[in-house]
Amino acid sequence: MARETTVDGPSVAVRVPAKLNLFLAVRGRMPDGYHELVTVLQTVSLFDELQAGLVGPPGRGHHPAGRLRMRVELRHDATAGMPPAADNLAARAAVALGRASGMLETSAVAAVGARNGESAARGRAASRSRGAEAHEPRTVLDLRKGIPVAGGMAGGSADAAAALVALNEVWGCEFTRDELRAVGADIGSDVPFCLVGGTALATGRGTSLARVLCRGTFHWVVCQAAEPLRTADVYRSWDRHCQPSEYEPDAVLQALRSQDAVALGAALHNDLEPAAYALRPELEMDKKALLDAGALGAVLSGSGPTLLALGADAPAARTIAERVTGRFPRVAVASSPAGGPDVADHRVR
Ligand code: C5P
Repeated sequence: MARETTVDGPSVAVRVPAKLNLFLAVRGRMPDGYHELVTVLQTVSLFDELQAGLVGPPGRGHHPAGRLRMRVELRHDATAGMPPAADNLAARAAVALGRASGMLETSAVAAVGARNGESAARGRAASRSRGAEAHEPRTVLDLRKGIPVAGGMAGGSADAAAALVALNEVWGCEFTRDELRAVGADIGSDVPFCLVGGTALATGRGTSLARVLCRGTFHWVVCQAAEPLRTADVYRSWDRHCQPSEYEPDAVLQALRSQDAVALGAALHNDLEPAAYALRPELEMDKKALLDAGALGAVLSGSGPTLLALGADAPAARTIAERVTGRFPRVAVASSPAGGPDVADHRVR
């Protein structure tokens, strides 16, 4: 079997943070089925890393005709919960960018491989079965997951944002960040924010963004649930159980401006909580346990099921984490805001 050769094109690694919603009000259901939101988003220091590179016979990947036929292949190290390749947001972002820039004609997205355990064997088998296609130029996206999968922390959207930033360079698309945001909005409502990062007020379906001033750093306990929740199911549950709300984000915005963790803890708010609790009643008790453990405030992250507890400072967050370990399958301590997508490694081979 001929040895695979890396094309002498660039390889780009992008590190991208998770997001949390400090405030989320649902104003109602829009005619297109999406829900109109007012939400305050902030990035938090749990990261995915995506490496994008060109693989295949030297030279062909640089030829426009070669690129039009190019396949996008996704690899990842998640053990469970990742959607199939065609539904994966990083892969979908790659295909959308390829089409928008005229770089890619095909929507072919090859099998997902994993780098560990049983699914790694499936990944290798898929690689072998590709046979001759392995000699065609292709773009490989290699994902290292640090953000909970399907946890309400925009892990998939963060991966899509990372793919857009990385491939914009690898493929030389020269899209501006605004153009990338327009492509990203079609992939998912959180993708435009994930491309920017920091702290933002979002309206509409969550894609119209305004920067928000945030001073200092806030310290969180991030508590994952055993079973993921699908965002669409939580919004459907909101349709059944909830009414449009008129909550305003002023108290959260003021707390961020004045670096006031106590005020922020009191102001945390998420209208999707009753909708998620209707599907997962235990989450309500879990939130109460976080408050009993000394959190300044606790809130469901986006559509959940991850819960967030705010500590007064980093040691207080660690103490809360120790007190609730055992109640949740995974508890992590993290800080916010955490910037935006960061090009960690840029190699021109
Ligand atoms: O935009 P995204 O693909 O992340 O949304 C996933 C699902 O969540 C949508 O299909 C929709 O059912 C629901 N959603 C919504 N209103 C929003 C955002 C998401 O109803 N503002």
